[in-house]
Amino acid sequence: MSTRPTRLPSANRILYGADYNPDQWLNAEAILDEDLRLMQDIGMTSVSIGIFSWTALEPRPGVYTFEWMDALMDRLHENGLKAFLATPSGAKPMWLSETYPEIRRVKPDGRRDPSGGRHNHCPTSPVYRTAVQRINRELALRYGKHPALALWHIGNELNGECHCDLCRRAFQDWLRERYGSLEALNLAWWTSFWNQTFTDWSQIPTQSRCIDALPVDWLRFVNDQHVSFLENEMAPLRELTPEIPCTTNMMGAHPTSNYAQWAGVLDCISNDCYPLYDDRDTNGNKFLSTDFTHSLMRGLAKGDPWILMECSPSSVNWGKINKLKRPGVHELEVLQAVANGADVIHYFQWRKGRGGYEKYHGAVMDHEGSTRSRVYQDCARVGKILQSLQPVAGSKTKRAPAAILYDWESRWALKASAGPKQSRETDLQMRACSEQFRALRQAGADVDVLPVGGDFSRYRMVITPALYLLTPETAGRLTAFVRAGGVWVASCLTGYVDANNRCWRGGFPGPELRKVFGLWNEETDYLHDDERILLNGELFNGLESAVASDIVEHLHAEGAEVLAEYASDFYAGSPAILRHALGEGWTYYVGARLSEDAQRAFYTSLLEDLKIKRDTLPEGVFRKTRTGPDGPVEFLFNYNRTPVTLDTGTETYLRTATGETLSGRFQLKPYDSLVKGLISTPSSLTRQPTESHEHEVLPVLC
Ligand code: GLA
Ligand code: ZN
Repeated sequence: MSTRPTRLPSANRILYGADYNPDQWLNAEAILDEDLRLMQDIGMTSVSIGIFSWTALEPRPGVYTFEWMDALMDRLHENGLKAFLATPSGAKPMWLSETYPEIRRVKPDGRRDPSGGRHNHCPTSPVYRTAVQRINRELALRYGKHPALALWHIGNELNGECHCDLCRRAFQDWLRERYGSLEALNLAWWTSFWNQTFTDWSQIPTQSRCIDALPVDWLRFVNDQHVSFLENEMAPLRELTPEIPCTTNMMGAHPTSNYAQWAGVLDCISNDCYPLYDDRDTNGNKFLSTDFTHSLMRGLAKGDPWILMECSPSSVNWGKINKLKRPGVHELEVLQAVANGADVIHYFQWRKGRGGYEKYHGAVMDHEGSTRSRVYQDCARVGKILQSLQPVAGSKTKRAPAAILYDWESRWALKASAGPKQSRETDLQMRACSEQFRALRQAGADVDVLPVGGDFSRYRMVITPALYLLTPETAGRLTAFVRAGGVWVASCLTGYVDANNRCWRGGFPGPELRKVFGLWNEETDYLHDDERILLNGELFNGLESAVASDIVEHLHAEGAEVLAEYASDFYAGSPAILRHALGEGWTYYVGARLSEDAQRAFYTSLLEDLKIKRDTLPEGVFRKTRTGPDGPVEFLFNYNRTPVTLDTGTETYLRTATGETLSGRFQLKPYDSLVKGLISTPSSLTRQPTESHEHEVLPVLC
């Protein structure tokens, strides 16, 4: 985890902007004037530039054409806009990838990517690392002192695997370093199974379906490569511009990128978030999934503000179904990020390009080119709202009483293991985390999400959904937390394997956690999708929908108190949920995947037992609080697509969409967003953005 203090591009100010690609419009320079004017019109403060501009900046090796970027940086500054200047490594120049095929990524089947595409460089290639450092150094020399420069945006959505010979050899070296000897590696990887024993380092491949430790180490290696690639990129920037923070845009709980590790080398956390709007989502679950992602970002940032580097003001174009965001949704999503600690909101992107894969992706400026579009008007209102929220900028988010621990390595180990139901296809760990986050939020708890290595010592309750890979170190930290008075809630698939994906001996949960939980998990039943196991227990009284599905563990109490039992199949009467006292604290173990209602009933009763404050808002209505200069600033959202009646008594809220103030009993509109604690400028929110040139139809410039 990071030991670097958070450094944001602009402390104590909310920034609002977008990815901006004027290099696609160099033959239509007049558009730049329009863009700058309109950006200010809607209250934008900053733009991410140069993300895919390598060839525009260096069309031939060592030949630089910085003039357009010089002009852009100057114009941004003249217009009061800040630049998040990207290093252009996200897309390789053709001239480089044609000359040096080694920089092109190799797929698992051994095929090398053709030149072109993006996010597909080899992270090991010394040629690419050198070329990236060179262009980065040029950028830092040229723009390091430019007053518009506020942030280095390193590459773009760095991710993925390369299976080339360079990467394979680097992996073998990495393993040699980690294990010291082939004997140690063979033992750790259990390679005598199916005669997979390696007799030379050079035999080790980058993938295997029969050695289930290999994919876990491979992804550790891949992450180390990405981190060292980032460090390589940042070296000249940190040398020449130590005062400018560096970040790279993450992708939420990305399946193979261990961002807990990445966070350690960055100056601030930034994320791209594209929830696909789905109007069949009747219970707001989509928004809760986004809350999970934002909470993870808060966790990575240790409660400090973070950057929403990309989101769409409208639909995306890459989904199977790309629905337009219904009225209120865009605004709600932006405020949801701010409520969760984002101090920067940037869209992808400012203006739709005319061609290429993303020409139908939502953007602030549409192809039509006027300011009358619904999206433009929405963005303009969001600009005003963000302006009025400036006082919360810089504030840390309040620590919640409960924290979910999220673990990339458990996710990898589960996926690599054949056995737990369809684990190769289903992301069981991720699913468990998001389901339990949702249940806790629906039960009224405020919840943080921390990477498993994070500091959870000051929480009242820690939840570890499917912490399948459990090291003695983590088990020790969690046990100490319980002994000191904490509450540890574990769920099915806890403590099956060690760091090498080898099963713990001595009975699950391991390592040696049977005494901690007071139980033994003898067997695991993986059910057909449509099967249900009944549950029995006071917790579920009168709740017909309380059932278990999918994964059911056959448990035995060994000192723990049984809170609920299975009530069907051959394990009827055996424990499903148990509680155990240890030191000053308690452990809870939930042995099956519970239905949504059962999960919620469990957490509701747990929160009540622990006297943890529960929010009792109507179904689908959620609250999140930040701090302003005069105390808490509360955000209240209706995640439902239907209206909901709310009674706030004497408390007054501001409806951000209209600037109305509301109190007592009133109706929340579908996807409504309210704010309490900052009601200084309601009237400015109702003002139309483009008074002087309202609904302007601009000339077609290109
Ligand atoms: C990612 C990329 C952007 C753009 C958007 C589209 O987040 O970083 O360049 O492609 O997706 O949704
Ligand atoms: Zn490679």
